[in-house]
Amino acid sequence: MEKQEIRTFGRRHGKKLSMRQQTLIDELLPTLCPENGDILEIGFGAGEHVRDLAHNNPDKTIIGAEPFMNGVASLLSSITDPKTNRLLDEYKNIRIWADDVRDFLRTTDSKFVQIWVLHPDPWPKARHEKRRLLSAEFLNTLSKNLAPHGEIIIGTDHWEYFDWILEQVKLTKLTATIADLDIIQTRYQHKNKAGTENPKYLILRH
Ligand SMILES: C[S@@+](CC[C@H](N)C(=O)[O-])C[C@H]1O[C@@H](n2cnc3c(N)ncnc32)[C@H](O)[C@@H]1O
Repeated sequence: MEKQEIRTFGRRHGKKLSMRQQTLIDELLPTLCPENGDILEIGFGAGEHVRDLAHNNPDKTIIGAEPFMNGVASLLSSITDPKTNRLLDEYKNIRIWADDVRDFLRTTDSKFVQIWVLHPDPWPKARHEKRRLLSAEFLNTLSKNLAPHGEIIIGTDHWEYFDWILEQVKLTKLTATIADLDIIQTRYQHKNKAGTENPKYLILRH
């Protein structure tokens, strides 16, 4: 029997979806199920950065993974025409995995040029530490799906989690560089629950 994985995310459902959002989930989402792609964003929240990636990389397939269905519904609403519910042209390169990214990674042989993880849940209580997604084991999984010159880009404003991630990287063969990035503000960055300065970014490479 396979080892039961520890859940790294909070709730999957929030407030009731609008009729349009529910239609998009029922009818459009199944058509956007990813197989292979060039850029992956893990835990996209409401999807602001996925949209930015799609807009700036029209020749690449962008895959977003997010198990929180209200976030998935927000992204779907913002990338479709409200009259036809069809994908807007600039977002035709988006695919969505509406579940745990670890399940997706078992199904794909993609070699991503970029893998983004913005504001991963810090699970600050010591007893929840095992829920942190960016463990050495998971980073090793990501490195298998990283192109030879690919980059895993991680952003967080939670300094303790930042240091913990660096410790996890040391247990892998990846190298880490601290980077100063200027990217669009996501919902969690805006919330800035940790009350710190601008997020810090790490770029991991083979
Ligand atoms: C703190 S939120 C940040 C959302 C977004 N990146 C932002 O900056 O606004 C972390 C997100 O990661 C998602 N997440 C946690 N574990 C995940 C997993 N195993 N696969 C995919 N997404 C996951 C959660 O559902 C949550 O939406």
